[in-house]
Amino acid sequence: MKIVIVGSGYVGLVAGACFAELGHQIVCVDNNPAKIGSLREGVMPIYEPGLDVLVMRNAEAGRLHFTDDLGEALINADAAFIAVGTPPRPTDGHADMKYVYAVAREIAEKATGDLVVVDKSTVPVGTGDEVERLLRATNRPFRFSVVSNPEFLREGVAIDDFMKPDRIVIGAEDDWAKGVVSAIYSVPGFDKAPILHTSRRTAELLKYAANAFLAMKITFINEIADLCEAVGGDVRDVAQGIGMDSRIGGKFLNTGPGYGGSCFPKDTLAISKTARDYRVQLRTVETVIQVNENRKRAMALRVVDACGGSVRGKTIAILGLAFKADTDDMRDSPSIPVIQALQDFGADVRAYDPEAMENSRGILNQIHYCSDAYDAADKADAVVILTEWNEFKNLDLRKLRAKTSGRLLVDLRNLYTEDEVANADFDYWCIGRRATFQREAEHYLAAE
Ligand code: UDX
Repeated sequence: MKIVIVGSGYVGLVAGACFAELGHQIVCVDNNPAKIGSLREGVMPIYEPGLDVLVMRNAEAGRLHFTDDLGEALINADAAFIAVGTPPRPTDGHADMKYVYAVAREIAEKATGDLVVVDKSTVPVGTGDEVERLLRATNRPFRFSVVSNPEFLREGVAIDDFMKPDRIVIGAEDDWAKGVVSAIYSVPGFDKAPILHTSRRTAELLKYAANAFLAMKITFINEIADLCEAVGGDVRDVAQGIGMDSRIGGKFLNTGPGYGGSCFPKDTLAISKTARDYRVQLRTVETVIQVNENRKRAMALRVVDACGGSVRGKTIAILGLAFKADTDDMRDSPSIPVIQALQDFGADVRAYDPEAMENSRGILNQIHYCSDAYDAADKADAVVILTEWNEFKNLDLRKLRAKTSGRLLVDLRNLYTEDEVANADFDYWCIGRRATFQREAEHYLAAE
């Protein structure tokens, strides 16, 4: 089938490359000619493991094309996917739909025949209705139908998530559109993925509900981590123990500095605002948003506590800036409020991230960006792990300790055991369990 994908960001590019890999003819369209130029030369605008190889392979095989000309792309297309951004509007936090609607209008103007338009962007409930209205309002002599087909891709493992999905959700309002989108997924490679057919509005809501639930799961375990610290439990064991209950499931129970990224913060906010617009209050989701927001800056206080109550004039080495491992994405990364708070409290920050430093430079100022973890640790009073990159899981802790002036390791991703850290002559602070030094220091701070 010939499929047009509008928007060459994370979702559009991954979907385009994967659909091409499955044998479809794909044209990826983006209104940024520089991005299209780079993609044609095999240069990815984002860091996503395996994406460059997949793009090159399918481009060379003639199944994947890039253009900034939507009209040309739409010739003989069976379906057009909308995969443009829906960032929160700065004024009120509602998902900003202007890019989606602009694309819908342009698709209608430039379509050359009947077309199924598929929404892959995460969009508020009712967007499909509006997109369909916009398409029909152009009075083109073609049949248009709009389908919601949400993506559930995680950055860093997006190709795997696309190729081996837990489910494919198709929210269609008529049999023709349902048939076209089902056919796109009815190819070898996708035979094992269950397809859930829903109404269009249900599919739109389902995506937000999935992300809100996962954000809630993370926030729950983060609060349990706080309680573990207070009562002397170990959150890793609690997470494992509750996760072994198949009704709960073991995934998304890793405690950390709070969730970030391009989806959870935006989508939790959007679903709670949609709910209020319909006179429903999602109190659980609203609480999750607030608890997660507070947690990020609280993590900076954790570092302050570890440093004996003040970081003024101290040098803090930050390992990890991206909101999670295997991405260069800094959007809503917990590292931003943590570092800004540390700077507010008077600390000098040295930082290293394997992929996100370029994106970070535009956001975080007055940081000394370093060439690796050991360079970041140079003469630092404390080392703080913020992102769970593999290379931070396998640090030579003795070498790291030899670089630092202080002996504090604050591990906000729980990557190490207390013994490993103590053997390298570090004092260890972690989350959801209290290392010996942490207990003693907290006792001392409380007594002051
Ligand atoms: C998420 C959803 O997982 C995906 O289905 C959706 O389509 C897009 O949003 P993504 O934002 O790429 O994907 O990352 P994800 O792996 O879900 O992590 C989101 C945040 O939660 C990160 O900050 C991560 O560090 C945090 N997290 C995740 C935890 O703190 N603990 C966990 O156990 C899992």
